Amino acid sequence: MPEFKGEQATHYNERITRLVPGYELLHGLTAAQLKVLFPDEATILIVGAGTGKEVIELAKLNSNWSFIAQDISADMLAIADQSFTNMGLSHRVKIQCGELTSLTERADCALCLLVLHFLEDNGEKKTLLNQINSALKPNAPLFLVDLMKPETQFEREAQLVFCRTLGLTEIGQTRMRHNLEHEFYPLDRMRLSELLDECGFNVPHPFFKALGFTGVSCNKRT
Ligand SMILES: C[S@@+](CC[C@H](N)C(=O)[O-])C[C@H]1O[C@@H](n2cnc3c(N)ncnc32)[C@H](O)[C@@H]1O
Repeated sequence: MPEFKGEQATHYNERITRLVPGYELLHGLTAAQLKVLFPDEATILIVGAGTGKEVIELAKLNSNWSFIAQDISADMLAIADQSFTNMGLSHRVKIQCGELTSLTERADCALCLLVLHFLEDNGEKKTLLNQINSALKPNAPLFLVDLMKPETQFEREAQLVFCRTLGLTEIGQTRMRHNLEHEFYPLDRMRLSELLDECGFNVPHPFFKALGFTGVSCNKRT
């Protein structure tokens, strides 16, 4: 897994839009669904909050929402923290650096965007999904966006071709091709549904698909 430290963290914001087709759209679509679901106050848990994109997008939509921004990378969270301060959002955000274990409150909703695909399906994915489940109130929704296994033989290559149109250089494309093979642990749809079920979530409903990048929502089973 990339470490999201040092230079990887400082250049994250400019790089990610060249690596994930539909990055802005997937965040925008997630935010729109939350706006419909939570017209009043809500505590939103952001798992793998990175440099703060989710909080920054969501905070604009409803001033009554508060956030728990969790990540295992201190460098990514330091950038997020600085942005929250600059934007006057710090009083609405609790930052948690490290594993998602010691939360005292239960969240109304969780987002886990572009995180789970970095964990191996050897118990690591399951541990994180179980931790998310424990951190949620009964019936609360989880929004998950992940790189999935390709559904056709040409899908991954097409994704890399499209990244060039997003501004990825040829060297970047070669590096990404290597990383997609070696740093990601994508699931197929069946296995994702099975894992979510094992971790106490209901059937996932798709809401986003940009070649390999797939978004689903599901609810904690009561
Ligand atoms: C590609 S970034 C996504 C950041 C943000 N969600 C976004 O959409 O821009 C992946 C993030 O997941 C974090 N991460 C990886 N494994 C994690 C884990 N087990 N728990 C929490 N965060 C994790 C990384 O440190 C990194 O900040």
